[in-house]
Order: sequence, then C-alpha cells, then structure tokens
Amino acid sequence: MEHYKIGIFAGDGIGPEIMVEGIKILKIIEQRNDISFELIPGAFGANAYFSHGNAFPDETKAICDKVDALIKGPIGLNHEDSKKIPIDMQPERGALLPMRRRLNTYANFRPVSLPKALGHFSPLKAEVIGEGIDLIMVRELVGGLYFGNKEVGVNAQGKRYVTEALEYDEDQIKRILIEAFKLSASRKKVLHNIHKSNVLKSSVLWNEVLDEVSPEFPDVEVKHMLVDAAATALCLDPSQFDVMVMENMFGDILSDQGGGILGSLGLMPSACIGPDKAYYEPSHGSAPDIAGQGIANPYSMIGSFAMMLEYSLGMHEEAKNVWDAMQGVFADGFSTADLSKSSADVIMLKTHEFGDKVAEKLLAQQ
Ligand code: IPM
Ligand code: MG
Repeated sequence: MEHYKIGIFAGDGIGPEIMVEGIKILKIIEQRNDISFELIPGAFGANAYFSHGNAFPDETKAICDKVDALIKGPIGLNHEDSKKIPIDMQPERGALLPMRRRLNTYANFRPVSLPKALGHFSPLKAEVIGEGIDLIMVRELVGGLYFGNKEVGVNAQGKRYVTEALEYDEDQIKRILIEAFKLSASRKKVLHNIHKSNVLKSSVLWNEVLDEVSPEFPDVEVKHMLVDAAATALCLDPSQFDVMVMENMFGDILSDQGGGILGSLGLMPSACIGPDKAYYEPSHGSAPDIAGQGIANPYSMIGSFAMMLEYSLGMHEEAKNVWDAMQGVFADGFSTADLSKSSADVIMLKTHEFGDKVAEKLLAQQ
C-alpha cells in the first residue's frame, strides 16, 4: 500500500472551513484506493503569527521538509487587521513567499475552466463562452518583482523613494517555458506567450529564451501577446487560449481575471510545482469578511486536492472524478453564495453542504 505524508496548512479566514471539505473528499479517495494518507497539520499565516510569533514557524518549515505534498489554505487579514503585524512578518511576505522560495515551486498551474453547463456563472455572454472555457495559465512563481532586489529610503532631495527590481536569469526563464511547452504539447499545441517586450527588458530576454527553447517543441505553435492585450482578449474571446505562460506578476493579475471570467475566484484552484516539492492552494484570498459563516465556496480548495492527486500522486482518474463530481453538483442546479444572488431559482449550498454533495457524487461513481 502506498503511504503519503501530506502537510495541511489551513491558513486564515475561510481557510479552515474550506479545508475540512477538501479533507472530506480526500478520505473517500483514500478509502477506495490502495493508499493511505498521513495528514500533518501546520500553523501558517496570520494565525501562526499570533500563536507562534511567526507566520511561518520553524515547526511548519520542518513539516514542509518531510512531507510528500502540501495543501495550503488562503492566508492574510483584511487591510486594517494587517496593520497589527509588522510589514515584513505579514503572512504574504512572512510566510507564503518564503515557502515558495524554500520549496522552489517555480511552476504555478492555474486552470481557468468552466464547462458549458456552468456557463450561467460567468459574467460573459453565452455566445462568448461557446462550448465552455478551458485554458490553463502557467505562472512563473519564484522570480520577477516578487523576489527582486528592494530598496526603500530617502533620496538626496529628502523624498522617500522605493526601487523594486524585476529580476530573471535565463535559467529561470527557460525552466518555466519548458513546463509550459510540455503542457501545451499534451493539450492543443497552441502556446500563448504573454509579455510586455515593447517596454520591459525582462520581456525581451524572456522572448529570446523562448526562441531558443521553441525548436525543441516543433509541434507547439507559439503566439505572442502583450499582457495588456491579453487582459482584453480574455474577456472578449477566451476560447482562443489553451496554455498561457507568463512571469510572476503578470500571472498574479491575469489569473485573478481568469477567476473573474468564470464568475468567481472560488473556482480557481492551483498547483505550485518545484523540482522536489509541490504544494497546492486556492488562488483566492482568505475572505475574512465571510469567515466563519459557513458560506464560502470550497471548490478551489477541493480542486487543489484534485490537482495534488494528479500532479503529485499520478492519480489521474481519481482527479478527474473529483472534478466531475464538483461540476456535477453545480450542473444539478445548485450554487454557492459567491456565484449567484439568492433567488427562487437558485438552491444555495453552504460550505459543508457542497462538500457533502460532492462526496455523494463521488461515491455514486462506483
Ligand atoms: C496568489 C496570491 C498571492 C500572490 C498573495 C497572497 C501573496 O494573490 O497566489 O495569487 O500574489 O502570489
Ligand atoms: Mg493573486
């Protein structure tokens, strides 16, 4: 029997309540396969700062080092509460980025996917959605502006100033492009390269490296698009995209727009993959305004578990079963509070009800 150690970092805000639903689904997978999971909880995020004095405590780092994969809930506080934590210890800068760097999870896969049957959740018109939205953004996750050199000070004129550098070397660019090409080769073989080479030198180097890598993947057609144009194209004609690759900051922004065209960031799971380690997380924030009310949509969280089954454990069929079960629940006419306004036509599910229905569907598949 295969045995896996899985780190479970529930995070802040709605994190713990959506994590419960992901674990509910994981237990079903465990029971019906020759596999066992040892779930190892770790303190991570603002809660860890308040309980351990550090948003990424040493105990949690030790868990990262010993597990086979990690699942992480959203972290962070609202704008006002964030001020209770020193800037460099806030969970984004003090926990998430250090974890990405520690695990070297340079490849972030963010599927933007909405079957035709769920098209009513999208703000886009039915004719724009056509047969559904099905693309995947590949975001570089450990370089660029997020990790570049930063300097804050007062200049000779007595003015406060800041400099933050967008830094990449060719190896960092090459490895993420290779991931995107490989993914594209396994899908529709059209790769959109998203850049800003009309302004940024970092994009000029990015595109040079792309020209060097591209001959290794002769089946994949590369299409170039400026990032600002891509933002428009995503709204007007998302079906032209299959795989999109981009640097860290562009990927942060465009992937949230991806959530927007689906109808909610609640439909955006993600996989963060490095050479030795991987972790999985919803692309959305911790939504402190609705935490504890049991109304958060656990789809991104459960979808992150599905991505772990696929990417870390090679359980492709079970991963697909989880997707089918989740989409099946919505296709049955149910909704969650992030996706629809309350009305007579909508049966709104609470967080645990959605998890229960997905579990029912999964069990019915056998
Ligand atoms: C994301 C998030 C993070 C990011 C934040 C929480 C630091 O927005 O994963 O997209 O900017 O990468
Ligand atoms: Mg983001």
